[in-house]
Amino acid sequence: GKGQFDHFMLKEIHTQPTSLQKTLEGRLDPASGEIELDIETDLSEVDSVQLVGCGTSYHAALFGASLLNRCDVPARAIRASEYDLTTGSLTDNTLFIAVTQSGETADTLSALRQVNEEGVETLAVTNVVQSTAAREADEPVYIRAGPEIGVAATKTFSSQAAVLTLLSQHLSDIVDSGVPADNLDRLVSDMADLPDAVERVLQTSDAKRLAREYLDMNAYFFIGRGLGCSVAKEGALKFKEITYEHAEGFASGELKHGPLALVTDRTPVFAVCTDGSDKTVTNAKEAKTRGAPIVAICPSDHQIMDAADEHLYVPDRHPVCTNLLANVQLQLLSYYCATELDREIDKPRNLAKSVTVE
Ligand code: M6R
Repeated sequence: GKGQFDHFMLKEIHTQPTSLQKTLEGRLDPASGEIELDIETDLSEVDSVQLVGCGTSYHAALFGASLLNRCDVPARAIRASEYDLTTGSLTDNTLFIAVTQSGETADTLSALRQVNEEGVETLAVTNVVQSTAAREADEPVYIRAGPEIGVAATKTFSSQAAVLTLLSQHLSDIVDSGVPADNLDRLVSDMADLPDAVERVLQTSDAKRLAREYLDMNAYFFIGRGLGCSVAKEGALKFKEITYEHAEGFASGELKHGPLALVTDRTPVFAVCTDGSDKTVTNAKEAKTRGAPIVAICPSDHQIMDAADEHLYVPDRHPVCTNLLANVQLQLLSYYCATELDREIDKPRNLAKSVTVE
């Protein structure tokens, strides 16, 4: 049941310290600073990666692809519904990763089946043991998040991103790109502490108060760069699906190439500032000049604070962790906006938990 919570979504958001603990169990060793991912498939010949998924899982795929690229492993995230072998960059040495919580999404299965015909190595990063994707891929990599009842994916995004983080470091070792894994010592220790860090964000979040400040706006924009871009897109998807308000998420730098025409004092801009770069700050200021309220999701001392009207705090950790914590803040923001609007949070109109048609 929902226990003390009004909705499964809120329960699942609050379960993340535990679900992440399970995701990471036995896969990280902070003492030796090592990642021990239990994968049997021989990945020694892999020279590039394709990650495929839909919706939230596609955003996790984007997150994974950014990380792989950071360690110089060529990787692309592709929307499963757009997957097409003839336009893809699939080679014999491509590793194909289906990212799917349910393991039953038709578009994702269709891409997996096309690739299985080609005989390349396939993994399924999935939550459901013995799901179709788990059975049809060469090997399942379970995210161990536990059952997710709310239609809106929350804890499974965090666990997918965590598994893809481990996988990216694992691959960067194997592929031996010459570029060291992504600040591995800090990554391993910050990942080990991630469940506690999520708990602290949940306990101290200002998202509920903030949600009330920004009801009844025209649209909601979410911006970020790199890993923060996938978090911005995910933040907007969550927001639109449960509040029914218009929300868009995009790369910060794209704002001035079109969306800026929509920006007014009735379009709050949520800026995910989870890297040291000042570019998102410049982009947020462009919106502020047009009257948009700016909500910064960032560590306390980030330079965007000069331009921010409101702040959702995340600690300054390895970028993987800072971004996942920013995502938790955005989950809470969407949830509390949706409760203020009295939406059907666990079963938003027109949506299904598992989409089994193409
Ligand atoms: O089960 P899957 O991860 O394959 O589902 C893919 C999407 O339908 C799913 O992530 C959807 O976007 C979320 N429920 C939205 O919160």
